[in-house]
Amino acid sequence: MKTIALISQKGGAGKTTLALNLAVAAELHGHSCVVIDLDPQASAMGWQDTREKETPVVISAQAVRISEILQTAKEHGADIVIIDTAPHSDSAALQAARAADLVIIPCKPSILDLRAIATSVDIASMAKKPAVAILNSVPPRGSLTEEALEAIRSYGLEIIPEHLGQRAAFVHSLTVGQAVLEYEPSGKAAQEIESIYKWICRFIGMKLKS
Ligand SMILES: Nc1ncnc2c1ncn2[C@@H]1O[C@H](COP(=O)(O)OP(=O)(O)OP(=O)(O)O)[C@@H](O)[C@H]1O
Ligand SMILES: [Mg+2]
Repeated sequence: MKTIALISQKGGAGKTTLALNLAVAAELHGHSCVVIDLDPQASAMGWQDTREKETPVVISAQAVRISEILQTAKEHGADIVIIDTAPHSDSAALQAARAADLVIIPCKPSILDLRAIATSVDIASMAKKPAVAILNSVPPRGSLTEEALEAIRSYGLEIIPEHLGQRAAFVHSLTVGQAVLEYEPSGKAAQEIESIYKWICRFIGMKLKS
């Protein structure tokens, strides 16, 4: 079983959007997935409540319970656990990073998001875990993307080569309890998630079943 933690100390960077979309991608690939929602606002849990399917399983919890939940997930045959964290929560984010095989830091191409990366990088290095950044909500055109990529590289962070575009499908799908792979399977957002999920699987050494 592999564990991924989504961390960004800046609110609204895309942690929950990415967590839920990757969780559905995992299930569609035949990987049994559990999402641990550490955010007291419980957005991931709220998404599961509006959803018709019972998978992926979403568990709302406090950080102190992470190891217990991971143990239970393992006993129930989970292949992958995705931990969604709250912003401005250094200690919970650190516990999530410690439990993870990989820390993913989503970041929008804005100066405030880019500045906030430093704290997330520190958390991953305190936890002694590999961390990668992913650029989220990239506008269709402009020099912003290249500037943002350069800023991220300056932290010495590897960047997932595929970005998430700024797309309405990410917003609308979650509103109706779905992910982009279900809402618009042949759309660009779905393609992005699919390729990011495959990249992550290669990175953490998880075999794709389909
Ligand atoms: N690629 C995208 N395209 C369009 N909208 C997006 C994209 N990614 C995220 N959003 C929107 O941005 C907002 C913040 O995203 P999300 O809730 O995933 O961030 P978060 O990091 O989990 O926020 P928080 O720190 O508050 O938990 C949401 O309204 C979401 O729908
Ligand atoms: Mg969130």
